[in-house]
Amino acid sequence: MRKWTLDLTQDGWQNAAEADAVCDAIEAGELVAVPTETVYGLAADATRSSACAKIFAAKGRPQFNPLISHLPSLEACTEHGIFDEDALKLARAFWPGPLTLVVPKKPQSTICDLATAGLDTVALRVPAGPVMRFLAEKCGTPLAAPSANISGKVSTTTADAVTADLGASLSFVVDAGPCSVGIESTIVALVDGTPRLLRPGGIPRKDLETVLGRALIDASTPTKPDAPQAPGMLSSHYAPSAAVRLDARTVQDGEALLAFGPHRLPGADDAICEINLSPSSDLEEAAARLFAALRHLDTYGAEIICVQTIPMEGLGEAINDRLKRAAAPRPIPPS
Ligand code: TXA
Ligand code: MG
Repeated sequence: MRKWTLDLTQDGWQNAAEADAVCDAIEAGELVAVPTETVYGLAADATRSSACAKIFAAKGRPQFNPLISHLPSLEACTEHGIFDEDALKLARAFWPGPLTLVVPKKPQSTICDLATAGLDTVALRVPAGPVMRFLAEKCGTPLAAPSANISGKVSTTTADAVTADLGASLSFVVDAGPCSVGIESTIVALVDGTPRLLRPGGIPRKDLETVLGRALIDASTPTKPDAPQAPGMLSSHYAPSAAVRLDARTVQDGEALLAFGPHRLPGADDAICEINLSPSSDLEEAAARLFAALRHLDTYGAEIICVQTIPMEGLGEAINDRLKRAAAPRPIPPS
């Protein structure tokens, strides 16, 4: 595995020799880890099923769970998906940014069936993080990229975390520092005239509803039997090795603590390890720190990570969604 470390504040990173080498790797059908503003992505050419197959194998991800394709612009996305008025409104308001749109797939789209898990819809995103956008443009192909973590485990927001999980499967890791948003994109499906929230994420629900001028229907309350769901929204996900206990009012013996806000829980001084996601109760700061904090607390070997209550407003909906899945009962591993 080769590594390209770049500084986004310096002009000219696009001209580095490594940029050509990463594109060569993508063109050769290999896997590269690329940062976005949300989390690091495990990227490959979305038009080649042999390349996408490597993504599923590296992550241990079931092939019924489709991938998001990353493109440089809305215009490029309209070659692959059919955008109704609502989809256009959201794309124009929030792209580039942490929003994924699931739309009907155009018959002439070159995105392979493995990337869409054979569905007649496609998940498209124009990320704000410039590296993924630049590489999709430079390579001239949509980049399929799930979060760069072992399937079911905590997503990654640093190149070191990616390397720890997936280093052996990568031909390149691009390190542009920690991700600024820190939580995955919000996913909205626009396939049947009813905008549906498939996954809360980096754009708060309220901002989307303001642009749409109406409420988003939750995917968990389908109005039709064939209403779209995100197949990847399995109940146990984002799981650290430790068990996770939510809405803690006190810290029990032997627990690690994921704190939030200025209030100190009784027993906090005896926690095995403590990270406060945001002492000033700033939900954007908390989202940006969430996955790295879970990974860090997990290294202390506590059996339980207890989590202080986090409010449901703004990015709190996405943070609580990830924590609820981290706390869900785990599937029993095959013996
Ligand atoms: O921020 C993000 O979205 C990151 C970065 C790398 O872009 N990517 C990401 O990908 O979170 P992943 O694979 O971890 O999550 C994608 C979710 C899955 O739950 C999948 O089921 C859903 O998107 N999805 C993809 N295509 C879909 C489709 N056609 N219909 C419904 N859900 C879809
Ligand atoms: Mg993921």
